[in-house]
Amino acid sequence: MEPQKAVIKTVDLTKVFRDFFGRRTVNAVEKLNLEVYRGEIFGFLGPNGSGKTTTMKLLLGLLFPTRGKAFVLDKEPSDVMVKQRIGFLPEESYLYRFLTARETMDFYGKLFGLPKDLRRERTEQLLELAGLQKDAWDRPIKEYSKGMARRVGLAQALVNDPELIFLDEPTSGLDPIVSRQMKDLILKLKSQGKTIFMSSHLLADVQNVCDRIGIIYRGRFQKIGSVTDLLMIKEQLQIKVKGMPLDKCKEIGALVNKHGGEVMDISHPLDTLESLFLKTIKEENEGNNSDSKSDN
Ligand SMILES: Nc1ncnc2c1ncn2[C@@H]1O[C@H](COP(=O)(O)OP(=O)(O)OP(=O)(O)O)[C@@H](O)[C@H]1O
Ligand SMILES: [Mg+2]
Repeated sequence: MEPQKAVIKTVDLTKVFRDFFGRRTVNAVEKLNLEVYRGEIFGFLGPNGSGKTTTMKLLLGLLFPTRGKAFVLDKEPSDVMVKQRIGFLPEESYLYRFLTARETMDFYGKLFGLPKDLRRERTEQLLELAGLQKDAWDRPIKEYSKGMARRVGLAQALVNDPELIFLDEPTSGLDPIVSRQMKDLILKLKSQGKTIFMSSHLLADVQNVCDRIGIIYRGRFQKIGSVTDLLMIKEQLQIKVKGMPLDKCKEIGALVNKHGGEVMDISHPLDTLESLFLKTIKEENEGNNSDSKSDN
């Protein structure tokens, strides 16, 4: 079997920041060894200040490593050819406030040297894909909500039809609905064959999207693996039962005891907060269909 093709590879990647006098240092990234394979969604998870953005900037060629190496699409990140083939959604939106979404897309399309017709085509296709409502396309971005600005940010990151996409905290600051839509979009990009490297500080944000996740803390990988591998509590077993009277559960308890085990918990399975929120809003919307209150 052919080994999986790594589109991102780092070897002992290290970044040390020094203060102005070169005295105080921060090891923002320390000996990071990472491989991201073609076609996967890789979640880069860690608390604030753990080194996610720094790693991303190293991979994008926006920072140079203190030690170690990074390869993106088999080349050094500073290579101009790499920049043509990747897309980047930064942590903080850096969109021009006075440009409209359409103008923004056109501007970035020009930076990549796309001809006019193609720019127009991509603009419409990507703003649509990103789910920005049409009546906002010609309004200045300063009037947008955070969710709308994030959508333009994503559309912008895709303007050069990149094969590898870096998303720094794509769902941060978004409500659960928009957050879910963003995740669905990310899955859609994967289905188009793209590779995605995304960071987050919330497990729930990456849990049901990523093929693999790496947990970084103080600049080092603490754990790396598939989501189920990392989350599964191997020494415990949960039995899901349907259609059995609750009082009969005692019999299961007896059976477990008989075999030297101990029943730790019998409970109804928990839904995620996210899905509860989504359900609640769906119910609310369905219930309020006749009530045609105009929204903004
Ligand atoms: N330009 C810089 N100069 C000095 N220190 C820096 C610089 N950029 C980052 N750091 C430090 O490096 C460490 C990692 O920062 P980084 O921004 O990579 O973290 P992060 O995981 O992206 O955090 P967050 O979740 O808050 O975005 C922090 O201690 C930060 O203070
Ligand atoms: Mg960051």
